Order: sequence, then structure tokens, then C-alpha cells
Amino acid sequence: MSKVRIYTLAKDLGVDNAKMLEILDSLGVSYKSVSSTIEEDTVGLIKEMLAEEAASGTGAATSTDTTEADAAQTPTPQNISSQNTPTQAAPAPATAQSVPQPAVTATAEREPEAPVNTQPELPHRAPVVTIMGHVDHGKTSLLDYIRKTKVAAKEAGGITQHVGAFEARTSKGKIVFIDTPGHEAFTTIRARGANVADIAIIVIAADDSLMPQTREAIAHAQAAKVPMLVAVNKIDLPQADPERVKTDLTTLNLVPEEYGGDTIVVPVSARTGEGVEDLLEYISLTAELEDLRADPKGSFSGVVIESRVDRQAGVLATVMVQEGTLHVGDFLVVGEGYGKIKAMTDSNGGRIKEAGPSTPVQVLGFSEAPASGEKVVSAKNEHAAREVIAQRASDRRDAENARTQRKKTLEEMMGP
Ligand code: GTP
Ligand code: MG
Repeated sequence: MSKVRIYTLAKDLGVDNAKMLEILDSLGVSYKSVSSTIEEDTVGLIKEMLAEEAASGTGAATSTDTTEADAAQTPTPQNISSQNTPTQAAPAPATAQSVPQPAVTATAEREPEAPVNTQPELPHRAPVVTIMGHVDHGKTSLLDYIRKTKVAAKEAGGITQHVGAFEARTSKGKIVFIDTPGHEAFTTIRARGANVADIAIIVIAADDSLMPQTREAIAHAQAAKVPMLVAVNKIDLPQADPERVKTDLTTLNLVPEEYGGDTIVVPVSARTGEGVEDLLEYISLTAELEDLRADPKGSFSGVVIESRVDRQAGVLATVMVQEGTLHVGDFLVVGEGYGKIKAMTDSNGGRIKEAGPSTPVQVLGFSEAPASGEKVVSAKNEHAAREVIAQRASDRRDAENARTQRKKTLEEMMGP
């Protein structure tokens, strides 16, 4: 009996992946992730369910924010599971048995539609992906390959700048990548208590397997609770042993899907490009399930990815826009410093006037280089910026005084 991958089926039936998983849940079908396979028997049931939904006007491709309401109307045909035996009757009779039943319970139990969240939904934003892994396992090469094949050839005539982050355009939409210098993995995944990256790619060389910084990167991603994808790189090498990497991963409780776990492992070669499309596809699938949204009209907030001082231009800081929109002329506050944006460039080195959520931009206008991982907010004008800074300075002094006072009290208590 043939099997079909969940995301392939979702694509074929024109529903989003989250919706597909919701349907599988309601059918009691078990799966590990959207790349798990399901039996063909189940496919028939899913089609029936979608047809029924369409007929009753509940909308097959609607948003997925109503999981709880949906759970209440779950048809729960417990007899159906992914373990359907091949001996079971053909899809048609099985469907005929189970479908009328939920239709009845649903109408009987369900009062008018559960109240839906009336707040307008924020627009989707592109996923921010950070690449981590051991030295020389091919992080930069992988990004270079993606950049070369997925970034418009704008750079040809322009200045090649190291922005530390770039936007790739794929058939699935925009993906933002952050280049991670091995020793700074932490700041690019999580900064000041907030996540910078939405997805972490752990790059592991197929000829080297798990190394100390691989474990460190995995620990960081787990601590930040960021979904992880494993890219097993350098599979073009004759000594490459991707199977060993998969086995080794299980020792960290990361069990690859082929072994019945839920860790997505994608074999790739940054040299030949093999598998890179698959990796991009998995990133898009993961992002879709995360349902990433941000308000481009809200107040601006972002984070410093990196900064440096250019002898001619001055301080150049790469800022990731997280919420709101950044404009040339805006005042930005970082720590106890501020700056007015004189100019902005996108990751291709092109001049831009504004930048919305999930956009990495290089900003010119800070008087001092802000530290990586610092939070950035905007202020209406210079006066407002100074006020924010004054408040922060005063808060910091208060905290310092309190600490000194505590120490003094403690010393007094201990006596001479
Ligand atoms: P650090 O930034 O120092 O941590 O290294 P990195 O992980 O960015 O590795 P980098 O991309 O610099 O690659 C290290 C070496 O591996 C280079 O010599 C690359 O040419 C080589 N390399 C990277 N990817 C591949 C690959 O897929 N196949 C082969 N054969 N070599 C690769
Ligand atoms: Mg590198």
C-alpha cells in the first residue's frame, strides 16, 4: 500500500499544513511532523472530511486559531488510525461507515459557531533562520550557496558588504538568514530574553559528525525553544557518512524521522547544492507551522545583529526589524545611547527608505557602536530619545545604589 507525505497531500488538496494536522488530529491519526507519511486509507477520509466541510460552509482552508473549538466537535472515529491494517476494506466503505456518524454528533452537540477571535489578524512575516554548528562544518559555505542562488544578482555592480544577515527569495517566499560566527551563537538566537531567530539550522559535516560546538549549538536552540532542523553537510565527500550522523544524533535524544523520531535531518552539500532546495522547503514548512506574524504599523522594535566602525562612514549597525517599520530619519535608542538614521541599506547593499518586520538593515547614524544582541526601540524625536535614555540611566543608578546598600547592610550585620 502506498503512503503519502502530509505536506504533499496538503499541497495537493490546497489546504495549509496546520489545517491538515488539525484534520489528522481529529481523525486520531498519529504523526510526528508534516513530513511524516500517512496511509492511503486515511487520505480518502481526509478528502471526505474536506468535502463535508466545504459543503457545510465551515471553510476548509480557514485559519487554525480555533483548535479548541474544533476539538469540541471532533468526530473521534477512534477506530481509524495510521495503523490501519492493509486487510481493512478499501477506502470507500470505511469512509461510508464513519462519516455519517460525526455529522450527526456534530450537529447535535454543537451550538452556533464558537465565538471567533474578532481581532484582525496581523500579517505574516518571513522566518528568521540562524545557522549554527561546529567550526568548518560549512555554515558559511551553505549560506553562500543559498545567497548565490537565491539572492538577486544586484550585488554584481555594488559594494559587497558583510551585513551578517540576508534575505533569500525562494519559491515559498522570503527567508531571512543570520550568519553566525561560531562563538556568538547565543546572541543570534536569543538576545535580552527574547528570541531573535525563529528557526535554527544545525550544520553537521557528514565526515566529522557531532563535535563540541555542535552540542553547544543544539543546547542553545533547545534552551531558546526554537525549532531545529539538522543539515548534514558535505555529503559530496567520499568519506561522508550521513548515517553515522543520524545514529550519533540519537544519543542526544534527537531521533531522526527515518528512525521513528521527529528530528528533521536533511542531507546537503554546500559544494554541489544537493539537498539545498529540500532544506529551504523544510524551513518554509516549519515557518508555516509557527504562524509567524508581526505588525508593520505597530511601534518599532528590533535587535542589533552586529556593528562595526567604518573609517569613512562611521558606525554601521545591522539591525533586525522585529515589529513596526523603520524609516530614514527615525530616532533609535539602544541601551543608553541614541542615533538618528541617516541612511539604511538592505542586505544586498541597496539604499532603502523604510524596512518592515523580518528585515535586516544596515543603519548609519549611531554615534557609538551598539553591542550585538542589544534591543533597539525608536523615539519620536531627539527630545523623546534623550528622555528614554535619562530614565534608563536613572533606573540603572537606582539599581546600583540598591545593590551597594544591600552590601553595606550585610556587612553591618556581619559585624566588625
Ligand atoms: P567557521 O565559520 O570557521 O565555523 O566555519 P564554517 O562552518 O562557516 O565552514 P566554512 O563554510 O568556512 O567551510 C569550511 C571548509 O569546508 C571550507 O574549506 C569549505 O570549502 C568546505 N566545505 C563546506 N561545505 C562543503 C561541502 O558541502 N562539501 C565539501 N566538499 N566541502 C565543503
Ligand atoms: Mg563561517
